[in-house]
Amino acid sequence: MFSKLESLFFFHVGNQIDKWEQYLKIYDVELTRFAQSSRPVSLLEIGVQNGGSLELWSALLPEGSKIRGVDIDPQVAEIKFTNPDIRVDVLDGTTDEMLELFQDQSFDIVIDDGSHVSKDIISSFRRCFQLVSPGGLYIIEDLHAAYYESHGGGVHQETSAMRFLKELIDSVHLDYIEQDPINGGFDVELFRPYNQLIGRITFYDSVAVIEKLVEPKTEPYRRILSGTVSTAVDANKWLNALPRGQLATLRLSTKLAGQMDHRLADMVQRLEGACAAAEYRAAVCQKQVESLQQKAVHKDAGQGELTTTQQEHIIALQGGQDQEESSDFSSKKNGTDLHQKPSSRRDLSEQMKRSSDPVQSRRGDLKDECTGPLQIHNQAPRVEAVSALHEASLHHEKTIEVDLHDQLEISKALVRSLQEQLENERVNAQQIIAEMRGKLERSYAAWSSKARALSRLKSSRSVQQS
Ligand SMILES: C[S@@+](CC[C@H](N)C(=O)[O-])C[C@H]1O[C@@H](n2cnc3c(N)ncnc32)[C@H](O)[C@@H]1O
Repeated sequence: MFSKLESLFFFHVGNQIDKWEQYLKIYDVELTRFAQSSRPVSLLEIGVQNGGSLELWSALLPEGSKIRGVDIDPQVAEIKFTNPDIRVDVLDGTTDEMLELFQDQSFDIVIDDGSHVSKDIISSFRRCFQLVSPGGLYIIEDLHAAYYESHGGGVHQETSAMRFLKELIDSVHLDYIEQDPINGGFDVELFRPYNQLIGRITFYDSVAVIEKLVEPKTEPYRRILSGTVSTAVDANKWLNALPRGQLATLRLSTKLAGQMDHRLADMVQRLEGACAAAEYRAAVCQKQVESLQQKAVHKDAGQGELTTTQQEHIIALQGGQDQEESSDFSSKKNGTDLHQKPSSRRDLSEQMKRSSDPVQSRRGDLKDECTGPLQIHNQAPRVEAVSALHEASLHHEKTIEVDLHDQLEISKALVRSLQEQLENERVNAQQIIAEMRGKLERSYAAWSSKARALSRLKSSRSVQQS
């Protein structure tokens, strides 16, 4: 049996229509809700040719629907239409003139049946998608041409319309595209507006349907959880493993939130404990750094000897050098002894000056080397060795400190997001309880008035009987 559109097409006698056979079923699915609408709708078609398709749309859609067509061919101005709601303009559908002509209008349906050249399809879409009403459709016909070289197409052709549409699919998933090399080259900002406006993209043979959201998406979609029985996967387990971003936006149904309340409270408590521990560790680190700094000042001033651990540290740092040299800490190779004290006050001040002078000193180099294997030249005077050790320790401690602070921040943010979530769920629960209470009170009032009426009836009956 013919569908409504098939009947309209095959029994059509007016201006000529030019479509592919599979399109009738596609349009049947896609346009039913408009065809059955109780209000007139609006449709714009780019590419009129003989005007038959405009008559087909007019016959399918509710009475009073406005049907507009644009075509680059001036001959379309000669086409006669019996229905005054059909109007045609001679215009290039790929240009800004479209926006000028339809500046105060929007359409429930826009169909691109123009040149089918890839760059034209993309240009028209960039301009005319904004003419689609909220919840409306942008339909592109004859996409097989996006595989024809003659039309700027091809499976691997960068500029093909299909390639563009595939990027539109990516734009729908923009919120999940991580900024790392694997997604490199994707222009997130170019596609952001489409992310907020596109509800779906459906592909048929040669036809793509892009539906505009009824309301633009302003926030990424959130994960939601309902139901209180979790037999296979305990919510507790994955809740702990959930990435922070998702945890912060997770929505629970009120019942589940009630059940999870104590679990979340436990989690908050544990995290607060972890925060306190991290804070304590950071404080200990700070103290260690300070005491190392003090020790270094003493050593730089030539006071006191190196401790055994510090000596071992220096030997270890020399590990990359000649085994014979590094195994003999006090060897006098090349005439320099690491244990040798500066011979005079002048020597000491010279060495200290060198170790604190950013140009002469090896400190800067050593600091950089801290991240890789650190090497102290065997000929380095003792002050330099101590200074290097100090730098190495400082660097190491600072790394730990930074790490701890990161952990601390993460823990704190997690605590904050959980607390916010808890607060939201509590507010939700209170609202629902208030609503339930209202309902109960109303039904109680109704029930008690019924009960009163019943008892009045009973007592009047007993009076009659007596
Ligand atoms: C496939 S026909 C349209 C068929 C018609 N929609 C139908 O279903 O019977 C393509 C039409 O697009 C028009 N066209 C080509 N490039 C165009 C452009 N840039 N802007 C508007 N119309 C264009 C051509 O002149 C031609 O009439």
